[in-house]
Amino acid sequence: MNAIEINNLVKIYKTGTRAVKGVNLTVAKGDFFALLGANGAGKTTIISILIGLVNKTSGSVKIFNYDIDRQFDQAKRIMGVVPQEFNFHMFEKVQDIVATQAGFYGIDRVTALTNSEEVLKKVGLWEKRSSIARTLSGGLKRRLMIARALVHKPEILILDEPTAGVDVQLRFGMWDYLRELNAGGVTILLTTHYLEEVQQMCRHAAILKEGEIVRLDSVKNLNKLIQQETYVITVRNMQPLDGIQSYAPVVIDEHTLEVNLNRDEQLNDLLIKLIQNGFAVTDVHPKEHRLERLFLSLL
Ligand SMILES: Nc1ncnc2c1ncn2[C@@H]1O[C@H](COP(=O)(O)OP(=O)(O)OP(=O)(O)O)[C@@H](O)[C@H]1O
Ligand SMILES: [Mg+2]
Repeated sequence: MNAIEINNLVKIYKTGTRAVKGVNLTVAKGDFFALLGANGAGKTTIISILIGLVNKTSGSVKIFNYDIDRQFDQAKRIMGVVPQEFNFHMFEKVQDIVATQAGFYGIDRVTALTNSEEVLKKVGLWEKRSSIARTLSGGLKRRLMIARALVHKPEILILDEPTAGVDVQLRFGMWDYLRELNAGGVTILLTTHYLEEVQQMCRHAAILKEGEIVRLDSVKNLNKLIQQETYVITVRNMQPLDGIQSYAPVVIDEHTLEVNLNRDEQLNDLLIKLIQNGFAVTDVHPKEHRLERLFLSLL
């Protein structure tokens, strides 16, 4: 079963901004999925539609097979949401914030208290249960947001920039914690600007640009992309490629060849190989963009 199925999703705001332009996206149950993109790419808009904060213009969205147009209440019950901005009551106590949230899902007070204890312990906030939320540091506030999102034991956790404004140490802690949750069976969808975050945590990622998905792949494949550099080799005489297959050569024309070099391979070794195989090399230069730059330019 899929945790999320988005078909032809379009959002045009009243201002005329076309924030989402026909997005198709499937997130499998159990996946750890990132929506990656620059400011204004449409990440928050997509998430806001999923959680019912923004009405879509057209298209369909299913959460664990519940259509949000017809079965939103069921869909809502299995989603935990951590929005981009802090939106809890700053003058309430930590545990009250979490337990009250459970009430919104019809969970009785006793269970709400048990559940809130469980999630506060999980995120390392149990010691702070009686603190006024406002007094927490930014990173701890973010953890409170996560605890609150988990109190009704959702199947899927949706986080909009969970580590924005979180310092490096807390960010690593957060990564560990989210990984652990995912290992426990919770599907996770998050948005982020940080490539590193995706590489550290996620299994799949979609790169959004101006409301469209420009790339959707496993993080493993995306990693492969950015660990190679493409060189353009100009030769006087094209030769058989047998001896240089490991560089994944592509013949562009009779004098031009493109090869991929992994980061740990030396350009010099490649040149020696080319000469040994009879190529008369007249020029070598990196392809206009490094793949990494190319990748980032997709943002
Ligand atoms: N309520 C709104 N009314 C009008 N336009 C909006 C509204 N919310 C967002 N937009 C516009 O929609 C586009 C997508 O915005 P969105 O917030 O979804 O991007 P984002 O990828 O989350 O960006 P960021 O990384 O800055 O959070 C932007 O052009 C934005 O200005
Ligand atoms: Mg956003």
